[in-house]
Amino acid sequence: MKNIKLGLLGLGTVGSGVLQMVRQNADKILDVTGCKLTVKTALVRNLDNYTKYAAETSLTTDFDEILNDDEIKIVVELMGGIHPAKEYITTLLKNHKNVVTANKDLIASYGPELMAVAHENHCDLMFEASVAGGIPILRTIANSFTADKVTEVKGIVNGTTNYILTQMSQQGWSYHQALAQAQQLGFAESDPTNDVTGKDAAYKMIILSQFAFGTQLDIKDIAVEGIDRLNDADVQQAAAFGYVIKLLGIAKLVNNGVFVEVGPVLIPRDHPLATINNEFNAVMVTAQAVGDTLFYGRGAGGLPTANSVLSDITTVTKNIILGTNGNLFNNYQQPYIPAKLAD
Ligand code: NDP
Ligand code: HSE
Repeated sequence: MKNIKLGLLGLGTVGSGVLQMVRQNADKILDVTGCKLTVKTALVRNLDNYTKYAAETSLTTDFDEILNDDEIKIVVELMGGIHPAKEYITTLLKNHKNVVTANKDLIASYGPELMAVAHENHCDLMFEASVAGGIPILRTIANSFTADKVTEVKGIVNGTTNYILTQMSQQGWSYHQALAQAQQLGFAESDPTNDVTGKDAAYKMIILSQFAFGTQLDIKDIAVEGIDRLNDADVQQAAAFGYVIKLLGIAKLVNNGVFVEVGPVLIPRDHPLATINNEFNAVMVTAQAVGDTLFYGRGAGGLPTANSVLSDITTVTKNIILGTNGNLFNNYQQPYIPAKLAD
């Protein structure tokens, strides 16, 4: 049996979920990978807030401790934000450490650049959890629509706003009351601005577009509106007319280009997307041969997201055993390859 040591950058909602799953599901992980996984070290800013984890993993505020630890083969970035996550991940890949991340801001903005660094250094960089939390949507698009032509991807891809809209329409809560509860439950980003302004959903639509259409869009190319200007009356009035308001992301092929937008949409109460409530997400992928397909699950929260992170960790672990790290044709990132890398 081989031992693979992990480093965590961040031990918040998702990081603590990963720690819990690695411990609780060790037997299943061993069956699947043939390896015993251990979280050796976790990076945080304020050690005092994390003493309850000290018996399970070593805690540090020094990134170099993880970078320079030769035993650590996979580093999981769960801090969020673009800086210093981008610099840390770049340095880790250049030092031949495989990286798993849930950071959609970073992957939507710098994914191809980071993938190129991973490829050059024969490392894996995986990010299933960056879109729709616990729904395995990236590997599904990459692996299950390989010959079909995807024409549209749309859905509810932000758990915080869906939770807020659900509480406003079903419980009569105010916007601010519902947002506070979404933060309390760990669904919202540490700064929820990107959630409520639609930017978080836009980042996810950029990544989905990469997988569905092979395009690299900039957030400036996308029309983005959030729910921060909606009020209770809007939600109640929609209900009175038989509609619900959902924050939808839409990406579709148009005249050989790709059109992407994010915004609040009135949906008839009996439409499948109208029934997706609370932190749940749903992604509808439409392709020429198969038609409509719908993927549903928890889009936010520690353990659901940790499951997606662990699916990447176990894939990387198997690649380490097989010696196939950094082989872009070996995993679900294949549609993401810029043409020059595929030569
Ligand atoms: P949290 O805010 O709960 O946790 C962040 C963690 O990172 C904390 O432990 C924090 O430590 C640490 N951290 C932040 N910045 C630094 C830094 N500069 N140096 C060292 N440590 C740092 O975030 P989440 O767990 O909610 O989210 C993590 C990532 O997962 C984000 O990219 C998010 O978008 C993504 N994600 C989150 C989901 C969710 O449901 N929450 C779902 C899907 C993806 P300290 O407390 O000491 O500051
Ligand atoms: N804040 C994000 C959301 C977390 O609410 O969807 C999952 O990416």
